[in-house]
Amino acid sequence: MTRDIRRLSERKRRGEELSAEELRWVVGAYTAGEIDDAAMAAWLMAVCCAGMTGEETWHLTDAMAHSGQVLDLSGIDRPTADKHSTGGVGDKVTLVATPVAAACGACVLKMSGRGLGHTGGTIDKLEAIPGLRTDLSPERLVGQAREVGLVVAAQSRELAPADGRMYALRDATGTVDSRALIASSIMSKKIAGGAEAIVLEVTVGSGAFMRDVEEARALARLMVELGRRAGRTVGAVLTDMNQPLGGAAGNAVEVEEAVTVLRGGGPADVREVSLTIAAWLLVAAGLHSKFDAALAAAAESVDSGAALEVFVAMVEAQGGDASSLERPLLGHQAPEVAEWGGEEAGVVARIDARGVGYAALAAGAGRRRKGDRGDPAAGVRLLRKEGDEVRRGEPVAIVLAASQERLGEALAELDAAISISERPPMPGPLIVETIPPGGSE
Ligand code: URA
Repeated sequence: MTRDIRRLSERKRRGEELSAEELRWVVGAYTAGEIDDAAMAAWLMAVCCAGMTGEETWHLTDAMAHSGQVLDLSGIDRPTADKHSTGGVGDKVTLVATPVAAACGACVLKMSGRGLGHTGGTIDKLEAIPGLRTDLSPERLVGQAREVGLVVAAQSRELAPADGRMYALRDATGTVDSRALIASSIMSKKIAGGAEAIVLEVTVGSGAFMRDVEEARALARLMVELGRRAGRTVGAVLTDMNQPLGGAAGNAVEVEEAVTVLRGGGPADVREVSLTIAAWLLVAAGLHSKFDAALAAAAESVDSGAALEVFVAMVEAQGGDASSLERPLLGHQAPEVAEWGGEEAGVVARIDARGVGYAALAAGAGRRRKGDRGDPAAGVRLLRKEGDEVRRGEPVAIVLAASQERLGEALAELDAAISISERPPMPGPLIVETIPPGGSE
């Protein structure tokens, strides 16, 4: 076995299979600070280029999951559930689906990430709520899960610390786009989080890391397999990410939209994807045997206000100011605001999700360097979806930017992302494919 990161990078680049011991060593040594960022970035790039076998991916995942504590949720008297998204633009599904599942009887304990590449991160979004803490200790995570039934927190140092470090490095070095690295990153967090039932939202399209359905299906199957190898009940839903989900991309602006959906309004696509994920969580957790009944229960929890109550209870338990949820942009103000569009009349033919993600990033919502803090107020509001008509003088989007310079950059990104034409586009399905939990594919 080789304990030299440079030689392991060379071997990986040549397409050789690394052993379980070697992968455990890479994970352990990087987590302990014995491998520096430059050498690790080269190894990650070799993995991006050469890929990994199923066995390698399992050993990498297992090593990352066990790089810290694995939560023991056996003392919780409700079925435990967790969800994860492979990332997208405007994807605020966690903020809706998890309180819905909790309101329907599941105990949801979820560790989320920050924005990665052009995609937004749930932790950045939640931290736009004034006072809300996401850095919870393992004891607090489990305590809140027991008391409130819902906790969404950042990866603590104690849980899957290897992923915490690798995720930030991948974001800063352009080494995100790898099936093995995405699968091991997500599943290591899920395994360490301890929940029995897991539903994975695998996004597909221009704004996702997986651009086509075959790639997304392969990623979904790989993650389901990793979860099942770890003894969990896992399902996956492939969702469309060619245009952003809903009408908001950013931080506060997405929380605002999620709360609107929890109040029974908001964009239909956010509601549909969120209720679908929540319903599969209820099936995976054994709370419902049939998807349709689970979906009806999920919808009822929104319509009755029960899901919003759970969300507010979570915000308060994590120190957040729940009254901010009543204020536009949660009380934040973007220094620079401008409309995009209005020169042309026609039909919105394309709103490219990746382009809108770049626009939100340019506006200041994300990170350009490891360790940067995103601006809570920055982002993009979309006033139209693909297929909608626009008249001359009507804007298609509003940019909320952290500075004048960033505003210009974001508007330029939207120039490339949005097109108006005479003919409406042919939209594909929002729910592209499903791998039901429990192995009954
Ligand atoms: N989400 C994660 O948690 N990790 C990835 O690598 C990509 C999306």
